[in-house]
Amino acid sequence: MNYKIALLKGDGIGPEIVDATLPILDKIGEKFGHSFTYTPYLMGGIAYDETGHPLPEETVKGCLAADSVLLGAVGGPKWDTLPGHLRPEAALLGIRAAMGLYSNLRPAKLYPPLKEACPLRAELAEAGFDILIVRELTGGIYFGERGRNQGENGEEAYDTERYSVKEIERIGRVAFEAARKRGKKLISIDKANVLESSRLWRETIHRLAQEYPDVSYTDMLVDNAAMQLVRNPAQFDVVVTSNMFGDILSDEASQLTGSIGMLPSSSLGEGTNGMYEPIHGSAPDIAGKGAANPIATILSAAMMLRFSFGLDKEAGAIEEAVNKVLESGLRTADIAAPNEAFVGTAAMRDAILQCIIDNA
Ligand code: IPM
Ligand code: MG
Repeated sequence: MNYKIALLKGDGIGPEIVDATLPILDKIGEKFGHSFTYTPYLMGGIAYDETGHPLPEETVKGCLAADSVLLGAVGGPKWDTLPGHLRPEAALLGIRAAMGLYSNLRPAKLYPPLKEACPLRAELAEAGFDILIVRELTGGIYFGERGRNQGENGEEAYDTERYSVKEIERIGRVAFEAARKRGKKLISIDKANVLESSRLWRETIHRLAQEYPDVSYTDMLVDNAAMQLVRNPAQFDVVVTSNMFGDILSDEASQLTGSIGMLPSSSLGEGTNGMYEPIHGSAPDIAGKGAANPIATILSAAMMLRFSFGLDKEAGAIEEAVNKVLESGLRTADIAAPNEAFVGTAAMRDAILQCIIDNA
């Protein structure tokens, strides 16, 4: 079968990591009898430079018409002074909203060969962890009313955290269903001791929990969660949380895996057309140097195969190849231990490709 993939390479290291992923997809296609057609669209700073808007209409149409979307990264210092609605990040929020991608899965697991790169104490790294962060992606403070006013003390600005029962329920369901297929343990993270939106969040998830008696469910306040993640990450299985808390906690969790360069993500709505992207940013400091770790993007492509195309075996083949390459000791700079040798994007890509070829 042929799958149409829209590519949003974006800015910084975005083009390099997406380009490193396509030969892997092609090899999987060749091995398992599928083909992938790629159509690139402009998004982010590059789109602003070329068209005057970070999310051109054509890009939205192309993504909606595709079977799935692979995204690199957007943003960079060059566009930091633009007004909010023209910033590359606004394009990312715009495409998430346009495609209705409310459910963002961010798996953070410690690959055993990367234990050395985990910044936690040896016994915690030894125990390992495998956490699935389910982040609500199209609501909350990212999309609430915002603005500026002249107040008593001069200029003021505000952003609004707002959630409806419907939004909380649908992300809650995704999380309970995911927990059911894994360790059957769900922790919902909020700030219900202060925020009204979190109190509604908690009430709603509690109600939902009655439909999932087989899943053990607890709440945790976000400040405590930030602390528990570094104290004892093994206690987490699936967590569900709001857009902003999920943004912050997933960066924290990523670092426990050794590097933010390791974490893939999937964003889905009601259908199977989703967007897949590494959770890291555009890393302008290393852009164009061929140094970026492509693994988060390659693993994002694996998630695409599994969640958008239902190709489980194929996704597993990519994940297994990544695991083997890490076991073999190959490292990019971000996951290398101090004084350990490392390679660049191309060598990492080639090693993963070779593993897929060899695992006949
Ligand atoms: C992420 C990123 C984005 C977010 C930014 C680039 C808008 O940090 O995907 O985690 O905050 O959602
Ligand atoms: Mg983030």
